[in-house]
Amino acid sequence: MAGFAIGEVVASRDRRFRIGDVIHGDLGWQDYAIVNSYERSEYVYKCSLGYSDEELIGILGVTGLTAYFGLQEVGRLNAGETVVVGGATGACGAIIGQLAKLAGCRVIGFGGGSEKCRWLVEELGFDAAVDYKGNDPATDLALNCPDGVDFFSDAVGGIVTQSTIPLMKPGARWYHYGNVSTYDSATLDAPVDLGKAMTPTLRKICDDRNLHPRFLLVFDYYCQRLRAEGELAALLKAGKIKAPTTIVEGFEKLPDTLINGTLRGNRYGKLNVRL
Ligand SMILES: NC(=O)c1ccc[n+]([C@@H]2O[C@H](COP(=O)([O-])OP(=O)(O)OC[C@H]3O[C@@H](n4cnc5c(N)ncnc54)[C@H](OP(=O)(O)O)[C@@H]3O)[C@@H](O)[C@H]2O)c1
Repeated sequence: MAGFAIGEVVASRDRRFRIGDVIHGDLGWQDYAIVNSYERSEYVYKCSLGYSDEELIGILGVTGLTAYFGLQEVGRLNAGETVVVGGATGACGAIIGQLAKLAGCRVIGFGGGSEKCRWLVEELGFDAAVDYKGNDPATDLALNCPDGVDFFSDAVGGIVTQSTIPLMKPGARWYHYGNVSTYDSATLDAPVDLGKAMTPTLRKICDDRNLHPRFLLVFDYYCQRLRAEGELAALLKAGKIKAPTTIVEGFEKLPDTLINGTLRGNRYGKLNVRL
């Protein structure tokens, strides 16, 4: 099973990696991984020193970088803009929402249930949160976005996307980097075309207002990784951003954690399994 991890080098024929180095990459669900660091060098890198495991795999790892580069490339935020974050309680969304607050935006996040919504506002400083499992998330969101939406960060599709599109201003930016709401469905929706989430009415709104989801793959921006890591680490050190993490112990917990954590929401922020 593929999966991002950090691990410790126990043997290496590559002189760039020494025994004891901590590396980040797609190491998979296994106790030991053999990694060809040349063929897959875009995915594997040596971690910086001085950070906790949780920071290295979370805010300074693939999920924090997904947040950072999405805002850099698609968000291009201006103070005073309204930002909606789908998947706000997850690893990427929690960072996107906090970075948008630091950029001076009004930020509304989607969470699954009232406790998650309270957490977004009270712990992470979001301006408001909408329960996507509630009776009428579209109306709840509209009440919280009276001036429309300038930027939509969407990790999930489904009801979250359907509630947000009608509120987006003409030409609003739209970062669509995942489709979590479809991951346990019987049929696959392509992440970029949003599949069944797009009704004819929503398609017409998108056409009329020139709204286009933009997908990007975090690895395509890894050449800028050290700058991003430096900026995120500085915010962390200054106490301006939090890196919420849920940790589960034990290799055997991996399948259950994927199903109940990622798909059914039993976690806050980045979900890690420690082997
Ligand atoms: N493009 C890239 O380069 C890139 C990089 C990293 C990740 N991704 C993708 O980005 C997505 C998010 O990653 P992540 O690591 O942040 O995930 P995560 O930590 O597992 O968070 C998942 C989020 O999705 C929400 N969610 C789950 N089911 C939902 C549903 N049916 N409707 C609405 N929201 C739902 C959860 O909300 P609650 O817990 O509040 O219910 C949670 O906020 C994934 O699809 C991942 O594959 C893409």
